[in-house]
Amino acid sequence: MTVRVLATREELPGFGLQRLADDAEVVSWRGTAKPGPDELAAIVPGSTGILALGNDPVDAALMDAAGPSLRVIALASMGFDNVDRAAAAERGIVVTHTPGVLAETTADLTFALILAARRRLGAAAASLAQGDWDLFRMHDYLGLDIHGATIGLIGYGQIGRAVARRAQGFGMRVVHHDPYAADEPLSISVGLETLLAQADIVSLHVPLTAETRHLISHRELAAMKPTATLVSTSRGGVVDEEALLKAIQEGGLHSAGLDVYEREPMGEELSPLVAEPYVVTLPHIGSATDSTRAAMVDLAVDNILDVLQDRPARTPLPG
Ligand code: DGY
Repeated sequence: MTVRVLATREELPGFGLQRLADDAEVVSWRGTAKPGPDELAAIVPGSTGILALGNDPVDAALMDAAGPSLRVIALASMGFDNVDRAAAAERGIVVTHTPGVLAETTADLTFALILAARRRLGAAAASLAQGDWDLFRMHDYLGLDIHGATIGLIGYGQIGRAVARRAQGFGMRVVHHDPYAADEPLSISVGLETLLAQADIVSLHVPLTAETRHLISHRELAAMKPTATLVSTSRGGVVDEEALLKAIQEGGLHSAGLDVYEREPMGEELSPLVAEPYVVTLPHIGSATDSTRAAMVDLAVDNILDVLQDRPARTPLPG
């Protein structure tokens, strides 16, 4: 009997969906906006698997709408805060994600944000595009150096370590704070307070969980140097955006580079951070290269096939 798998997008990079279609009937969400819970609930009944992206809502109601056939929720994403993991565990549903395959690409983008925010690349490029360059002025678009700076990595998993390797090439001092990671040669492990006080660049690499929600808020921003840059390629909810806006507007922080937000996607209702001249904002493109996005879909599909074929999933979320 052919099993049914819901994919929350009709088109995904690479050939993963085609491979999946060899073993399952793939039913796809065909809308152009982010699917809401009701829209997914309407097409999920009878599914054995759900292939979702990192911010599609996968809650208990969706699992119940799928019914008892549902065995696996495979995310084509590293982040997993969009899934009600407790509800999945109660129902015996395996949840998988895609660690590893996106670490280097996301670290590349982290560095792009560091460079763009500290060297004011967005503002400089926009002014050139507007024809606003008639004289070389020594004081235009002055930024802050990256080489020789101290970078503080909050979260020292695969992506944090990949950023640390890049930082070495820039001659930076690297410190990290991660209760789950030990010291290692690339980086010194320090407490959060020490990291915030010492770092010229604070870069976030933790998943969004109850423990990390608003990990960076008023108190933490006040503890950072006024010349510091905050960079986030993890999840928006890790930063209290109101507090960040205040710190930037009041000169408590030099700059920020953001790829992720508390509300995504933004649609036309932009976060006020987007208009801030010292904040570089990107639309969640950390893993957005052809090969990495295809690898993420491939891994998600492999996880689904593992479960469908009664093998242990290769990258389940830890229980
Ligand atoms: C991830 O993999 O978590 C990326 O942010 C895309 O969701």
